[in-house]
Amino acid sequence: MTELASLRTQLEQLRNEAMDAIAGAGDLARLQQVRVAFLGRKGSLTEVLKGVGRLDPAARPLLGKDVNRLKETLNKALAEREQELRLEAERARIEAERVDVTLPGRCPARGALHPLQQGLDEITEIFLRLGFRVAEGPEIEDEFHNFDALNIPPEHPARAMHDTFFFPDGHLLRTHTSPVQIRAMRRLLADGNEPPVAIVAPGRVYRCDYDMTHSPMFHQVEVFQVGEGISMAHLKGVLKHFLTRYFGRDLPIRLRPSYFPFTEPSAEVDIGCVFCDGAGCRVCKQSGWLEVLGSGMIHPHVLRAVDIDAARYSGYAFGLGVERLVMLKHGIPDLRLFFENDVRFLRRMGS
Ligand code: PHE
Repeated sequence: MTELASLRTQLEQLRNEAMDAIAGAGDLARLQQVRVAFLGRKGSLTEVLKGVGRLDPAARPLLGKDVNRLKETLNKALAEREQELRLEAERARIEAERVDVTLPGRCPARGALHPLQQGLDEITEIFLRLGFRVAEGPEIEDEFHNFDALNIPPEHPARAMHDTFFFPDGHLLRTHTSPVQIRAMRRLLADGNEPPVAIVAPGRVYRCDYDMTHSPMFHQVEVFQVGEGISMAHLKGVLKHFLTRYFGRDLPIRLRPSYFPFTEPSAEVDIGCVFCDGAGCRVCKQSGWLEVLGSGMIHPHVLRAVDIDAARYSGYAFGLGVERLVMLKHGIPDLRLFFENDVRFLRRMGS
């Protein structure tokens, strides 16, 4: 066999191997390896061309042509296979990213404010719209703000009735929001201001008491206004407005004489029973009335304790229990529902 024929056979063999390898390349990386193995500087084709030196000059162009044709063939096959592999990869990617647009959407779980926080916000908002300002005080109080300044001296029986949690150092957990009256009025004067002042003070309070209708921690909103000529008429007007707004209807209200050391005169405030509209039911114990809050005209001793001129200024105050109002508004039968954090209850109450 001539040298030329032998080289041509090698080329033919190389062609077959290369075409098989190209067809068998499963991905682009593999295809690139095939390209280098056959056509690269140290590839099989280069290897075959080393034999060209042994050809006589006349035969060389003949082999050159063959080599060029083979290169062309292989490059074309490589390009085609590359195109195929790219399409395959694209198809696989689209398949993998396929989205079933008919699936129902996934809704993010939505949180909601706790019903008591909603109640606090709702109540506070009504007074803000009347021009009251929000004030807050500490939950850890001292005896002066919680008792003495509110006209509850050390030996006063009301002090024992408060079921106070004391700390060893004499501080205590406030038993009501009324100490915010003292703090807000002192702050007013300390800032160089004078009445009139109108404050709404929402917050947590504590009493050592736990049963079906009492929790050791509960919430109150304290409301008070001090100025010249403030009378019980203002108290009653604001109460009527508040209760109508809060319950969303025109409920009858009634002020019943009562006693608090820090107000004089004092009154318990009742609303017509929201369950029987005054006809008498189990909840109102057949009376037709529900007690909702304590109120009165701020005692002159209290004004004096904060250095407000009691001859010139007067004021009213009231304090309401948030749990009770929220329960009445939404017909919640058991106080403990607020504190057990059963999500079924919380979800139902979430707005
Ligand atoms: N602080 C009283 C209580 O907790 C409520 C109250 C506030 C009464 C203001 C009169 C005036 O029971």
